Amino acid sequence: MSTPSSLRRDPGYAGLRSRVPTLPSTYYFDPAHYARELERIWYRNWVYLCRASDLAGRRSYRTFSIGEQTVLLVRDEQEGLRAFHNTCRHRGAALCREDSGRFPAAGIICPYHAWRYSLRGELLQTSSKQHGEGFALRDYPLYALPVREWQGFVFVALSADPPPFAASFDLGLHRLDAWQLGGLAVGHRLQKTIRCNWKVFWENYNECLHCPGVHPRLAQLVPIFGRALLERRDDPAWQDHAQDEDPKYAGGLRAGAESWTLDGKAVGVPFPGLSAEDRKLAHIYLTSLPSVFIVAHVDYVRVVRLLPLGPELTHMSIEFLVLPQTLADPQCDLRRAIEFTDIVMSEDAEICEVNQRGLRSRAHAQGVLMPEEYAIQQFQDWVRSELARP
Ligand code: FES
Ligand SMILES: [Fe+2]
Repeated sequence: MSTPSSLRRDPGYAGLRSRVPTLPSTYYFDPAHYARELERIWYRNWVYLCRASDLAGRRSYRTFSIGEQTVLLVRDEQEGLRAFHNTCRHRGAALCREDSGRFPAAGIICPYHAWRYSLRGELLQTSSKQHGEGFALRDYPLYALPVREWQGFVFVALSADPPPFAASFDLGLHRLDAWQLGGLAVGHRLQKTIRCNWKVFWENYNECLHCPGVHPRLAQLVPIFGRALLERRDDPAWQDHAQDEDPKYAGGLRAGAESWTLDGKAVGVPFPGLSAEDRKLAHIYLTSLPSVFIVAHVDYVRVVRLLPLGPELTHMSIEFLVLPQTLADPQCDLRRAIEFTDIVMSEDAEICEVNQRGLRSRAHAQGVLMPEEYAIQQFQDWVRSELARP
């Protein structure tokens, strides 16, 4: 279909105006390309790990796999958070084999030859009878990594020189201030391993062309999604309804619904202090590539974290954050939010696997983006620019 010249001139229309090719299919399964993306994207940028409250108390730790690297996150004796490569400075053994635990008062002891480190990463002791000439404990601290805690979210970077933290988010860090994210509690967690490349997940996240077919329930709850659009200006004829407040055009939830739940009713104590517009919109997305998006609803906040496990394997974790009052209130039952999320995210996971399988075709070197997929173009441009960075 050719684009009428009136649309080409419409400065408010968000959609793509010409044919845009996708990334090459090999980018989604080739092990060498995957290794390049780990180096240039996952090992350079800030990656979300967990909530700070997941490391409760001094000497508690957790480990995380990011691609082929394992990060050890520790709460030190002064209650500060520190991150290290999970690797001993002696001959490189993994320091921790568990996902989580608590170190003894003696500190971090390597399971191989018992080198002992403080929780600040200083090497305190080796197991040798004496040290050879030129060897000094101070020269062998653990390999430390930059850690950043923001509103209770803990991020790590596998690079000594990560980009500015705020620059990794698509909106200003103050956009969700009204939710007071730092004080929220984790009400529930879901985990899934998806047989797809991590980019397949993000591309699916960046369009709603699939919503009517893949998400029948979500398409009812959010009428504009039922029209295969993310926002008002994604419709080439948006000006015909520029002032129309019907959610079908304006976005937001169907009449009478308050939140993303099975029946549209809120499940938790509503966040005080939200603006009327934010309550009406009922979902504000804040994204930090490559690892996380945060969706703020009126009564809960959903945090979706991705970590790559292989060229065609991605781990997804979903946290439900709520006010502490919600957890304390026996009237509040998060299940309707959890089940709704599980339905939608399972639909997404399944369709991402379908996408991944087809990408393997020897005939399919590259696809094409349609006008509604403008946000995929932005994502793919970001991938290309990260790959091109020296
Ligand atoms: S590898 Fe850790 S003490 Fe030898
Ligand atoms: Fe989806």
